[in-house]
Amino acid sequence: MELQKAISERRSYRCFADKKVFPIEMKEILEAGIFAPSPKNRQPWHFYSCGPRHKGRVADILKSKIAEMQAASVNVGSLPTSLGAIEECSDLVLVYNRYSKREHGDNENRWKADILSIGACIQNMLLTAHSKNIQSLWICDILFAEKEISDLMATGDELVSGVAFGIGTQGLLPPRPRMELHKKMCKTG
Ligand SMILES: Cc1cc2nc3c(=O)[nH]c(=O)nc-3n(C[C@H](O)[C@H](O)[C@H](O)COP(=O)(O)O)c2cc1C
Repeated sequence: MELQKAISERRSYRCFADKKVFPIEMKEILEAGIFAPSPKNRQPWHFYSCGPRHKGRVADILKSKIAEMQAASVNVGSLPTSLGAIEECSDLVLVYNRYSKREHGDNENRWKADILSIGACIQNMLLTAHSKNIQSLWICDILFAEKEISDLMATGDELVSGVAFGIGTQGLLPPRPRMELHKKMCKTG
């Protein structure tokens, strides 16, 4: 698929059919992620590809978190929708920052640069999935339960995001509107 077409057509999907993505396709999607640029080629990303048991445990953790937040009258926002996508998706990938909790010293610039490159890595994965007619959702709502999920995965690394992959039930969605470019930039002399 032409790159520009993949960029403009990709959408976030939150409803998935009860179908599995082939493991070879998931491998190709993750491999696309690691081609992302990173500061000094540090490659800060680390993936946890959840099997069905861990995906179910993540969903259970989020359900408990929603109940806890609701009991405390805290707005749960899009968390229930994100939970639905996690339950329905074929594959849930948790993306961690391999360095932030291992390297000593407070270096915010380095942390920021690592997170930026993890974002580029995730976008590579989303575009590759789209080009294979596989739908996806970038999920930061899992950070509501960052500690519980990290305890479950038994990693001391920093959880950055989840990404759900699957076969969407809605066909090709129309693009979500974006503000025009001229409202998002200024040109200097
Ligand atoms: C860093 C990041 C985190 C996101 N987290 C969530 C999330 O937790 N739940 C969700 O439903 N969508 C999430 N999204 C998807 C956005 O809502 C979506 O990208 C945006 O509304 C634009 O829609 P589109 O992706 O269909 O073009 C996230 C997107 C990004 C880039």
